[in-house]
Amino acid sequence: MTLLETISLLRTQIEADISGLTSREDAERFRLTHLVKKGTLQSCVDGLRSVPKEDKPVVGKALNELRALAEAGYQEALDTYGAPAPIPSIDTTLPARGARSGAIHPITQSIQKLVEIFGSMGFEVAEGPDVEDDAHNFGKLNFADDHPARDMQDTFFVENRERADVLLRTHTSSVQVRVMESMKPPIRCIMPGRVYRNEAVSARSLAEFHQIEGLYIAKGVSMADLKGTIMEFARQFYDAHAEFRFRTSYFPFTEPSCEIDMSCFLCKGDGCRICKHSGWLEICGAGMVHPNVLRACGIDPEEYSGFAFGFGVERVVLMMTGIDDIRMLYDNDLRVLGQFQ
Ligand code: DAH
Repeated sequence: MTLLETISLLRTQIEADISGLTSREDAERFRLTHLVKKGTLQSCVDGLRSVPKEDKPVVGKALNELRALAEAGYQEALDTYGAPAPIPSIDTTLPARGARSGAIHPITQSIQKLVEIFGSMGFEVAEGPDVEDDAHNFGKLNFADDHPARDMQDTFFVENRERADVLLRTHTSSVQVRVMESMKPPIRCIMPGRVYRNEAVSARSLAEFHQIEGLYIAKGVSMADLKGTIMEFARQFYDAHAEFRFRTSYFPFTEPSCEIDMSCFLCKGDGCRICKHSGWLEICGAGMVHPNVLRACGIDPEEYSGFAFGFGVERVVLMMTGIDDIRMLYDNDLRVLGQFQ
């Protein structure tokens, strides 16, 4: 049989095959029979080599026409039934992807731990509103009318047509006032919450952060009780071997007032980047509740006395972790947050 005859027979076959294409799978089978390198058309092309020179134009033309016909038929079937689905390439030797679970934010973790430790000493959790009035945030806490903290520079005031004294609380000490107004001594409360200051956001400060306030009011409470409570807390929370110092300070709502420092957990007091080379880290402000505050909240300072203290929660987390930019706690970067799981 000459090649031309073979081509003519193949043409009959291909025409029959094309008219029988009714699915994507048929089209693929057609391609594998006729159009690939080892298919029928290519074997005719290979046969061209042995065709006498003078016959080549005629045979070549017939072959080209048949290829065009086969390709058009295949293409039409593809357009109608879609391309063959790619074979998925799965590498079964790869390790499985672990399931990722969420975790509690480091700020919440610290609040929970603080609440737990003070809870073990008998302190109950109390809460107050974020939107406060001047009396609870400043007035009843013995801030003078012209105290600079009341300035617009420090405090976010809330627009209110009826009154000008509505603000976002600048500290959780406002909750002390609410607790003393609504409970009878003995009072032993811990008050976590969000606070707001009109400050530029920087590596060291945020306009919105968290504090935990503590308050103990009973008969005969003294500075020694404050010291014992804070030391017990600090030993449980920080480092049983750390050293502590009580440094005199000033807050309008306590008298006497102090700040409590702990020897730096990193350098153990030698001086390093974390403690700014002082060897000490400030952990909280505290003091004996000022008689004016007790009186403003309806408690007789002749009968009762008490202590209060306040922590900045973000500060606690920065201190414990050595993170030196407070904004990192709120960037929600999983590379940072993942380290607190
Ligand atoms: N309210 C203070 C502040 O925001 C912190 C503080 C200091 C709270 C001494 C207290 C305290 O209860 O006794 O800086």
